[in-house]
Amino acid sequence: MDNDGSATRILVVDDDAVACEFLQEALQISGYDVDYFTSAKETLKNGLAGYDLLLSDIRMPEMDGLEFLRQVRKARPGLPVILMTAFGSLETTMEALQEGAWDYISKPFSPEEIREMVRKVLDVRKLRQLRRQDVENTPKEPQFIGSSAAMVDFYKQIARVADSSASILISGESGTGKELTAHSLHQLSARREKPFLAVNCGAIPETLLESELFGFEKGAFTGADHAHQGLLEAAQGGTVFLDEITEMSPALQGKLLRFMQSGEVRRLGGHDTKHVAARVVAAANRDIEKEADAGRFRSDLLFRFVVHLRTPPLRAHREDIPQLIDSLLKKWGYANVRISDEALGLLMAYKWPGNVRELENVLRQTLLLSPFALLTPENLPEKLHPPSPVSERPLLSLLERAERQQIHDILESTSWNQSRAAQLLRIDRKTLHAKIIRYHLTGR
Ligand SMILES: Nc1ncnc2c1ncn2[C@@H]1O[C@H](COP(=O)(O)OP(=O)(O)OP(=O)(O)O)[C@@H](O)[C@H]1O
Ligand SMILES: [Mg+2]
Repeated sequence: MDNDGSATRILVVDDDAVACEFLQEALQISGYDVDYFTSAKETLKNGLAGYDLLLSDIRMPEMDGLEFLRQVRKARPGLPVILMTAFGSLETTMEALQEGAWDYISKPFSPEEIREMVRKVLDVRKLRQLRRQDVENTPKEPQFIGSSAAMVDFYKQIARVADSSASILISGESGTGKELTAHSLHQLSARREKPFLAVNCGAIPETLLESELFGFEKGAFTGADHAHQGLLEAAQGGTVFLDEITEMSPALQGKLLRFMQSGEVRRLGGHDTKHVAARVVAAANRDIEKEADAGRFRSDLLFRFVVHLRTPPLRAHREDIPQLIDSLLKKWGYANVRISDEALGLLMAYKWPGNVRELENVLRQTLLLSPFALLTPENLPEKLHPPSPVSERPLLSLLERAERQQIHDILESTSWNQSRAAQLLRIDRKTLHAKIIRYHLTGR
């Protein structure tokens, strides 16, 4: 059901009527209204008004799915689209995602799989609508970009915990959007009208950090010639964001722990305590569990964080790179700049140790140094160029290199569990196996 109580309407387009009926049945069980067409042209003729989601085949006789997708985007830009493809290839997926598809599912799939996917896409749509309202309320709030499985999964985690009062720890590599996550958590919660106050624990000396957080009374220490409200008090009802929390001294960690347990704040040099209902969100760049194991971070404080969100590194969602680039170009007023396929191939194959922030920097630098309408590999910084090929392997196209890299990374992340990797890549095991051989991939 939608907010207004009417059923969610799904449109299915597949030239195979049996497939349409299968989908109709599978989705009606979940309470969706499902219509279908067996022709892309007929669908466009009938119009797309009133639908909340489109499920389309990618291979159809009179118009292929990508072309159809282009036309759909023109007619109804915001309509979420899931493409159904018999070829789980990265190439088609990337093209489809570039054309604005929200997700894709490889045939054959089970009724449960398609229901799960539909639910996921509708969740993200809801989140995006929420975010759009936020933007209207608070202009210039930076946005998450990306519709990869990894990011969609991350958005869902944010949406699930945003509105609780649980304290949240965000960890992840540098430049992966930890601060952005903290802002989103606040914006998506009922606290959004209340203050969001941030402090970087690594950037201020310890004594100052303590008085910043807890405040002080007049005469608390030399130079305290007036009383001062701390950040925790000031954030009453809102969110306190403690960035780089691993940089906090053990003594201050203890004080923070007591605040998180009791909700009580006592200013330095003061006697009275005040109850403060502020939600604590913290971010850590270093591996905070390792810091705790090494005794540098209090584990009781670590356990006090009820939810632990981990921002995905950019190399785990490379397929979002074209979209990220597009939106940065638009944001900076370079909407007319194009990136050649070869240059895009390099941008997608690079490891991005500095993640989205590094991508922003590379793009900014490139635009400054190469004020051209078309950016080619020569315009990109040296570090993006792979070392010259000295192998006996057949030369791979840039797209293939990107695919090889992604398969390699996923295999590494699953410790070469091929079934799991195939699942994550949404290809079948046989296809994965063939690609491992084709790309000469080997484990450690
Ligand atoms: N998924 C994303 N979509 C759009 N922009 C992103 C995304 N992730 C990060 N960014 C952008 O990248 C930059 C870095 O993000 P942010 O400051 O939130 O990262 P961080 O994890 O806090 O980094 P650090 O560890 O270096 O402090 C910001 O400009 C942010 O808007
Ligand atoms: Mg940060």
